Amino acid sequence: MVREILIWPDPILKQKAKPVTKVDDAVRTLVKDMFETMYAADGVGLAAPQIGILQRIIVLDTTPRQPESKPIAMINPELIAMEGETTYTEGCLSIPGEAEDVDRAAVVTVKFLDPEGQEQTLKCDGLLAIAVQHETDHLNGTVFVDHVSTLKRELIRKRMKRLKSEREERPSA
Ligand code: NI
Repeated sequence: MVREILIWPDPILKQKAKPVTKVDDAVRTLVKDMFETMYAADGVGLAAPQIGILQRIIVLDTTPRQPESKPIAMINPELIAMEGETTYTEGCLSIPGEAEDVDRAAVVTVKFLDPEGQEQTLKCDGLLAIAVQHETDHLNGTVFVDHVSTLKRELIRKRMKRLKSEREERPSA
């Protein structure tokens, strides 16, 4: 089921998500919904808080840019190593139409539980490394515009407020 994606600024997007204590069918259904929501919105990553659920779950699919990668769901992801530096022009499904350069680590190693509850460790580079950092930020109440200048952030905030009021006026659109 495709869920509604919250638009920044939203109080839920500022909260820290809670660790998943049991990987059960409810979590697997949520993961499935998150993939469907991400694909419907044409994104490469989505974090549970973006659909209003404060649990530490992210989904990623960077295969269009990295054919050797595969769609992946991470439960309770933890960055255990970060190497190098890179800058990437990021966007976010919660901040539609906006893109800004963000400095990130170039290579990250992430530890997580898969949807079967098995512990996995994955070393990521390229777009996947960026996406893992962007999505784990969401679990800590941080969005990419928190990494840009105050001036840019406030301009984006104004545009998002306008976008939200337009959507409220035309709820069927
Ligand atoms: Ni995002």
